[in-house]
Amino acid sequence: MEDLVSLCKRRGVIFPSNDIYGGMKGLYDFGPIGTELKINLKNSWWKSMIYERDDVEGLDSTILTSPFVLRHSGHEDTFTDPLVDCKKCKSRWRDDQIENGECPSCKSKDLTDPRPFNLMFKTAIGPIDDGSSFAYLRPETAQQIFVNFKNIVDSTSRTPPFGIAQIGKAFRNEITPRNFIFRVREFEQMELEFFVKPGTDEKWHQYWLDQRLKWWSKQGIASDKLKLLEVEKEELSHYSKATFDIMYQFPHGLEELEGVANRTDFDLGSHTKNQNDFSIQAYVQENKNSTTKLAIQDLEKKEWFIPFVIEPSAGVERGVLAILNEAYTEEPENNRTLLKLRSHLSPIKAAIIPLKRNNADLVNLAHKVKSNLQALGLGRVMVENSGNIGKNYRRHDEIGTPMCITIDFESLENQSVTIRDRDTMKQERVNLSEVENFYMNYFK
Ligand code: GAP
Repeated sequence: MEDLVSLCKRRGVIFPSNDIYGGMKGLYDFGPIGTELKINLKNSWWKSMIYERDDVEGLDSTILTSPFVLRHSGHEDTFTDPLVDCKKCKSRWRDDQIENGECPSCKSKDLTDPRPFNLMFKTAIGPIDDGSSFAYLRPETAQQIFVNFKNIVDSTSRTPPFGIAQIGKAFRNEITPRNFIFRVREFEQMELEFFVKPGTDEKWHQYWLDQRLKWWSKQGIASDKLKLLEVEKEELSHYSKATFDIMYQFPHGLEELEGVANRTDFDLGSHTKNQNDFSIQAYVQENKNSTTKLAIQDLEKKEWFIPFVIEPSAGVERGVLAILNEAYTEEPENNRTLLKLRSHLSPIKAAIIPLKRNNADLVNLAHKVKSNLQALGLGRVMVENSGNIGKNYRRHDEIGTPMCITIDFESLENQSVTIRDRDTMKQERVNLSEVENFYMNYFK
């Protein structure tokens, strides 16, 4: 983990957030390289969920969420972790971090009993911060999918089985954020809510588990580092009938990468049930019940039913950490470290390197090659005008760039370039007219 964290900082992948003011626990920023990696991972997920299927629609909803949504979803009451205080050193822990009744920090046994701590962040809405009007920062992207269920059904004429997918930020006031970007307070989720007829839910649950394992292995995660763990009944979230966690062998241990839950009709049901029975709270002057029936009409049986939901929910940051961990390779025999990333995830697809810095002919040709490759639309291509080929190779190995294209004086004479492969370090002379084909074939 230490080696990864240091590479991430050195090469512009991930930085501690608010760094120059001392940082803030559980918050990280993605630098130029990390941002591209994240975009590529999210695009890969979106492509597999929406473009390569015919039964999923996309959504991009707000982060600020009405308290009514999160009350009826059960989050206000149950989205908690058990919090324990050490009375001696005043540190705070999640109950499951306490071993032998001792404070992990000062070893005192003078601890409070665990009490529920709600993980949702609140913020004031409007100019007056007197508690009368507030919103939550969503703790999962899923609730806005449920709340938009009728809008999407009405505007697309979908009937189950079908899904709604969303990628976006979620926020949790974790008691003890830890292990780099594994457990943070602000992160992104890639969530699919897949709506099915009751009775077919278990079949679909298995289907989505298989799909998700295949997808992770396409992102370069070795299958033998992934394990399925069925969550024990007493550990299940309030909405779940059954959940399987896809566990990955992270540098700090085997932990959850993604959860695949059978949420039954809990969420659509609770946003529907609460249409008329919601009592007005002290801080609201008006009745804000859900006025919508989140159900589907079975046209044959002429009955309404509430679909069951299968939910694969993955964290982008945990995905990035797993992928970086898999790709991180040290080759002492070649005196280099490299990221053996799958090419679709590589932050930079190709680096074009003029042999001599600021040589106008070489640099102009490099920019021409760059713009031709950039126009192919596979991701970021960049010109490295620093003149130090060895340094450039090392840098691009470390950020996982699959190919470096060197423009030298021969290129000006015979219109050819050298292409170096990241993994084999082999160099090949390729005619300029063939570079685009070479590049496209590589990423096929
Ligand atoms: N909608 C279901 C849901 O949110 P979850 O298991 O609480 O379920 C889903 O979260 C995924 O989100 C997790 O598998 C994990 O990848 C990611 N995740 C959850 N909390 C996180 C945190 N504090 N930091 C980073 N990722 C987190």
